[in-house]
Amino acid sequence: MEGSTGNQSEKVVAVVTGGNRGIGLEICKQLASNGITVVLTARDEKRGAEAVSDPSSASRLADFIEKFGKLDILVNNAAITGTTSNVGDLETFRQELAGMDDLMERIETINKHITEPYEEAEKCLKTNYHGIKAVTKALLPFLQSSSHGRIVNMSSYYGLLRFYSGDQLKEELNNVDSLSEQRLDELSELFLKDFKDGQLKARGWPAEGGFIAYKASKALANAYSRILAKEHPSLCINCVHPGYVETDMNFQVGHLTVEEGARGALMMAMAPKEGITGAFLNLTEVAPFV
Ligand SMILES: NC(=O)c1ccc[n+]([C@@H]2O[C@H](COP(=O)([O-])OP(=O)(O)OC[C@H]3O[C@@H](n4cnc5c(N)ncnc54)[C@H](OP(=O)(O)O)[C@@H]3O)[C@@H](O)[C@H]2O)c1
Repeated sequence: MEGSTGNQSEKVVAVVTGGNRGIGLEICKQLASNGITVVLTARDEKRGAEAVSDPSSASRLADFIEKFGKLDILVNNAAITGTTSNVGDLETFRQELAGMDDLMERIETINKHITEPYEEAEKCLKTNYHGIKAVTKALLPFLQSSSHGRIVNMSSYYGLLRFYSGDQLKEELNNVDSLSEQRLDELSELFLKDFKDGQLKARGWPAEGGFIAYKASKALANAYSRILAKEHPSLCINCVHPGYVETDMNFQVGHLTVEEGARGALMMAMAPKEGITGAFLNLTEVAPFV
């Protein structure tokens, strides 16, 4: 996807993962309409759940970006919920949800129709945490070649540490000065082990209110984002919660349009040089990670 303005040598180049639908597609459209050259990535149906979490597809993406010589913006947007749903007729279910004015009522109704099997939890961590890392690592050298490299990690309110029931885990994930990427990988393994062994609550992981693996994966991705921002002060690396947006992820019943949901990510993607880094944005406002 390409915008219409700009000199070849000054072209701003962006990569958006999961750019084929939802908020990702909207981000691609708006970046392109601002004259930015957008490389939209979408997974190959035949390869199924691989894509962002598969190191070889991340390295193929890097080979593609090499021809631009640099990358200015990376939006890690692709994600899954780690759930399976049993809603009967989808359209009827959507209408039932759309008839509810109260957001909590909608969420509770969705929660009654979802299950969270171990295999989905595993895929969720693989996509939402390991996937972000694989793509970021492959593209980091190109972001460092930009005069103004920016990474926007699409996060979620569900990634906030308030959903952790145990203080020890919460503090560890919030203490970005002593956290390491290796420790985050260990925690990702530990989460899956505790999930399998029924020990989530005992250890202090998010354990209630549904979307358990999603909550854990987004919190790990937030912590990774903060570590990376510290390690690379020349880049701007931020997490953005888009709000509750009308996309397939929530049966198209969010209360924000994709245009509204994309606003914070676009603000960070197109922020001027030496802007904020290592932050969490709730829509367009800086907010705590807790
Ligand atoms: N919608 C909300 O209310 C909401 C709230 C908070 C946070 N978010 C976050 O916002 C971001 C965008 O969400 P959305 O609502 O636009 O979701 P969506 O409509 O479900 O779109 C998700 C996108 O991610 C892609 N994807 C998923 N797994 C992938 C994989 N393994 N490899 C490559 N691509 C993969 C999907 O590709 P396919 O088309 O191939 O499946 C799709 O393009 C996500 O990070 C989400 O967690 C959304």
